[in-house]
Amino acid sequence: MEEETSQVGGYTLIQNRSDCMKAKQGLSTKCVHAGKIECGRVAPVASPIFQTSSYYYPTEEGEGYIYTRHGNPTQEIAEDRIAALEGAQAGLVFSSGMAAITTTVLSTVGEGGHLIAFEDLYGNTYTFFRSELKRFGIDVTFIKTKDASRIGRFFRSNTKAVFFESPTNPLMRVLDISRVSQAAHKWSAKAIIDNTFATPINQRPLELGVDIVVHSGSKYLNGHSDVISGLVAGSKKDLHEIEELRTTMGGCLDPNAAYLLQRGMMTLCVRMAKHNENGLKVAEFLENHKKVNKVHYPGLPSHPDHELAKSMMHGFGGMLSFEIKGRRREANRFLNELKLLLAATSLGGAETLISVPAETSHSYLSRRERLGLGIKDNLVRMSVGIEDFEDIKKDLNQALSKI
Ligand SMILES: Cc1ncc(COP(=O)(O)O)c(C=O)c1O
Repeated sequence: MEEETSQVGGYTLIQNRSDCMKAKQGLSTKCVHAGKIECGRVAPVASPIFQTSSYYYPTEEGEGYIYTRHGNPTQEIAEDRIAALEGAQAGLVFSSGMAAITTTVLSTVGEGGHLIAFEDLYGNTYTFFRSELKRFGIDVTFIKTKDASRIGRFFRSNTKAVFFESPTNPLMRVLDISRVSQAAHKWSAKAIIDNTFATPINQRPLELGVDIVVHSGSKYLNGHSDVISGLVAGSKKDLHEIEELRTTMGGCLDPNAAYLLQRGMMTLCVRMAKHNENGLKVAEFLENHKKVNKVHYPGLPSHPDHELAKSMMHGFGGMLSFEIKGRRREANRFLNELKLLLAATSLGGAETLISVPAETSHSYLSRRERLGLGIKDNLVRMSVGIEDFEDIKKDLNQALSKI
């Protein structure tokens, strides 16, 4: 066990950083123990919140903390934990998933660089790539999931990174992570994945060749719908520049939010087991429902990427989408009729959340753009929670019967 000591406000802070990246511990153990802090004589079981903006001057050797935008012990618990779970050398936390994504892409690609992005992306990520990157001198090529096998033809001499989600939002398509990473490496580019939907419990992209993993920590990692945060995991080298840019751009996470994030991460393994169980049951139920046209869930044998998902994922998660019989009006009617499940955006919380992507996560796009991405007006996205399946089913059934 590696032990680091430093002086904080007159108290000796001892960080018992068990080297979880190398330790052969199970994921549940890492969720609970990775990144713990002990504070000298006072040794709380729960990690303390270092709610401070600044610190006493560092030691003469320059060690210690300076200012919370640069680093903070409570932030570091979540950073060490995501690194341990993803099997990475290092982790970083951010004030939001979008801060994690924007900082990572700006730092990795840089002015004059070229980015390849699969177009099935969270709406704000898509908008950032399409509308904002050019003002930073970065070119983007969007490619379709069906073009994954032909990705080689899209690289240029200045391509610095390939960015993708798998499973994608909201159509749950699954990409061959190893193949995308290999293609990127052939061109000396970095493979960056948004692993928010799967979490490191269901999918560990670094083991499949990805260089950098980004997350919205506002979803499953926190898991209680009460924190906005982002995380990044990768090699120390790759994360060094991203960290420098985070300090400059200011997307750091408040220590109080960092505390809630690491607390939520402690139960990630048990929550994901229930999300996986409920997700599959709900997908099967909806697939056989007469008011539903189509269900998008990689755990269903009918899903076009089912075999690929089975080979890469350890569970299929709680995210799914389905096309309701009818149009947008029927989709909204269904949402209005829900009595237990919540009609709300976001995902990954304990409670089931249901939304219409055309009005929430992808409302930033024109209808034409949305339809081009395959996101129909009657598409409903569901983040299946950890309630009893029978209660979820009952509410879905009664709401569907009203349309
Ligand atoms: C897949 C995915 N990535 C990134 C984000 C952005 O995260 P945040 O809302 O924490 O900025 C979201 C938000 O919904 C998301 O669904």
